[in-house]
Amino acid sequence: MKYQIAFLPGDGVGPEVLAEARRVLELGGRLFDRTFDIVEGAIGGTAIDRYDSPLPPPTVELCKNSQAVLLGAVGDKKYDSLPAAKKPERGLLDLRTLLGNYANLRPVFVFDPLAEGSNVRPEFVRGVDLVFVRELLGGVYFGTPRHRDANRAVDTEVYTVDEVRRVARVAFSLAQSRRKKLTSVDKANVLETSILWRQTVAEVAREFPDVTLENLYVDNCAMQLILKPKSFDVVVTNNLFGDILSDEAGVLAGSLGMLPSAAIGGFAGLYEPVHGSAPDIAGTSQANPIGAIASVGMMFEHSFRLPEAARRIHNAIAKVLDKGYRTRDIYSDAANLKLVKTREMGDAICRYIETPNAP
Ligand code: IPM
Ligand code: MN
Repeated sequence: MKYQIAFLPGDGVGPEVLAEARRVLELGGRLFDRTFDIVEGAIGGTAIDRYDSPLPPPTVELCKNSQAVLLGAVGDKKYDSLPAAKKPERGLLDLRTLLGNYANLRPVFVFDPLAEGSNVRPEFVRGVDLVFVRELLGGVYFGTPRHRDANRAVDTEVYTVDEVRRVARVAFSLAQSRRKKLTSVDKANVLETSILWRQTVAEVAREFPDVTLENLYVDNCAMQLILKPKSFDVVVTNNLFGDILSDEAGVLAGSLGMLPSAAIGGFAGLYEPVHGSAPDIAGTSQANPIGAIASVGMMFEHSFRLPEAARRIHNAIAKVLDKGYRTRDIYSDAANLKLVKTREMGDAICRYIETPNAP
């Protein structure tokens, strides 16, 4: 099979981490007999500089003709003064809408060797394996009216039953394939959208009698994620809460740089690390490529139905961490750790994908 993949490095550390992700993609294609036509496009600040638009027409065309999209990161302080409609972030939001990806899977898996390095005590984070299912096309990110003048600004949180239902179904089926527990997170003690959310999730629950549903308010969930992160399996929540909680969960995994994501439900999956453009370290080869590489793993699983390839990538990451390879964000001065640059981390992961039993 031949697939076209839109390759959108974006801003900041995006190009650095995506260069490593690309090598893993090509290697996976070689090992699992898929041909990838990887075509680069501009998004975010780099697209603003070149085309005066964060999601220019050539990138739209490219993505429309692709079976999957791999994205680095968008955003830079340089564009802070632009109106919202012209900011780099807008390019990413418009891309999600264009592709129709309403469900954003953000797995948080704590690799054993990183449990010691987390800011949360190791006995609490060791063994954490949860997945956020973040609603991605609705809520306050997209609701109207939306405006701002000098004295007053308005954003609108909107959800329809259909929007909640479709993302809830993704979350319940995922829970069914895992430990069969779903936590739905809202603020139903205060917000009308959350009351609708909770009612709709309860209705969908009847289609999945083997899954245990629990409801948590978002403030309590933020606390439980630190107090007992192992109690979570699948967590479904709205666009804004999912954005916030997934950064928090990055702490459990040792670094936000570890977390991958897959946005699904539309005509082509969108795969990107959860971390941002990290302008402070851009160009220094210190960025952690694991989030981006694990996103390629998710692409193999969700877009190409190759869970074996995804497993192979996951195992190679585990191996590399076992062997002590660490980018700066996950490095500590414990014995036997090797502080490496973005490229060396990518090299080591490729080596163990190719030869899982290499020394
Ligand atoms: C994320 C990011 C984006 C979001 C930004 C860059 C628009 O923070 O993917 O988590 O808020 O969705
Ligand atoms: Mn975010």
